[in-house]
Amino acid sequence: MNSENVKMKLYTIVGARPQFVKAAAVSRALADTGCIEELIIHTGQHYDSNMSDIFFNELGIPAPARHLGIGGSTHGAMTGKMLEALESAMLEDRPDAVLVYGDTNSTLAGALAASKLHIPIIHVEAGLRSFNRLMPEEINRVVADHLSALLLCPTQTSIANLQNEGLTDGVHAVGDVMYDATIYAINQSKARSDILNQLELTNSEYGVCTLHRAENTDDPERFGRIISFIEAQASKQLIVFPVHPRTQKVMEDRGINPRGVKCIKPVGYFDLHRLLADSSLVLTDSGGLQKEAYFHRKQCITLRDETEWIETLDAGWNRLWTEENWKSPRSEIDDYGHGNAGKKTVEVIENWFAVQ
Ligand code: UD1
Repeated sequence: MNSENVKMKLYTIVGARPQFVKAAAVSRALADTGCIEELIIHTGQHYDSNMSDIFFNELGIPAPARHLGIGGSTHGAMTGKMLEALESAMLEDRPDAVLVYGDTNSTLAGALAASKLHIPIIHVEAGLRSFNRLMPEEINRVVADHLSALLLCPTQTSIANLQNEGLTDGVHAVGDVMYDATIYAINQSKARSDILNQLELTNSEYGVCTLHRAENTDDPERFGRIISFIEAQASKQLIVFPVHPRTQKVMEDRGINPRGVKCIKPVGYFDLHRLLADSSLVLTDSGGLQKEAYFHRKQCITLRDETEWIETLDAGWNRLWTEENWKSPRSEIDDYGHGNAGKKTVEVIENWFAVQ
């Protein structure tokens, strides 16, 4: 359908912090093609400047073509408003394909809006499963996968998960775009981050903690147990805790101020990687940070009862907080690629578009 000189119009839907990071790696590779016009659509799911603008600025992500300004309501309301706004935008702009990342409400809304208009969907970070349908992220990623024409997978496990659900067409192993982003951040952050001085961490041993999942923050009893676990770790070493707005609100409402923990505002990408580089432990319920810990070869404890990134457990770098010890011996993980997942992603998209 498309001759070589036809430019593909690609819609990229982003809304939440990890999507900005992933989009940065892919957008850089897209800009190099010369035959894909990328329009970035920001749903507005994350709107604080230290949750959004800082990532666009630091990572040089092109300014969004549209900012929908939708964030901060319940899951259904947020997804519904995004669906409506994205449908109108797609009807006006008529993209050839819609690219969605990961598992957030913005991913779900983007995939639903495109599918109703019969626009092909490309899902980056396809095939991940926690097998826990109480997580909004699990529902979002399952739906996105089943609606997508191209499923771009970061690991062999994610490919096997899709196969088990009967999804084999359009499935490609491209590696993990977050590894590309981490390499960039490691190179940049030494010169561009002053966080260690600001927090006076130069000579001390410390761990880094993040916590934001609804499954952890919204159940007071569970949240209390996790805070106690973090405090127990903090009795052995200082814990630096950039607090997500959702978690901040819960802590304020319940008057929680964890002992031995340095609570700070959310940090930008370079500061986070500078912190990780000198840390000795990572505690997190984030998907991305479990792997970023591995990319820095730091041991991680995941504050969840399961993880999608099971290769980090098998390789002994990560353990669930419900487990006593890391698996031994420790090994390297081949799956995530060599920092060229963004480039591979774009090659697959170009080849696919050429035969449409
Ligand atoms: C979302 C994703 C999660 C991802 C995470 C990364 C879903 C279902 N969840 O969770 O998969 O790991 O982003 O951070 O999409 N808020 C602010 N300022 C902001 C952003 C949010 O105050 O810039 C508030 C919101 O108003 C809301 C709460 O924080 O009350 C949670 O935000 P929300 O976007 O619903 O989900 P996250 O917990 O960030």
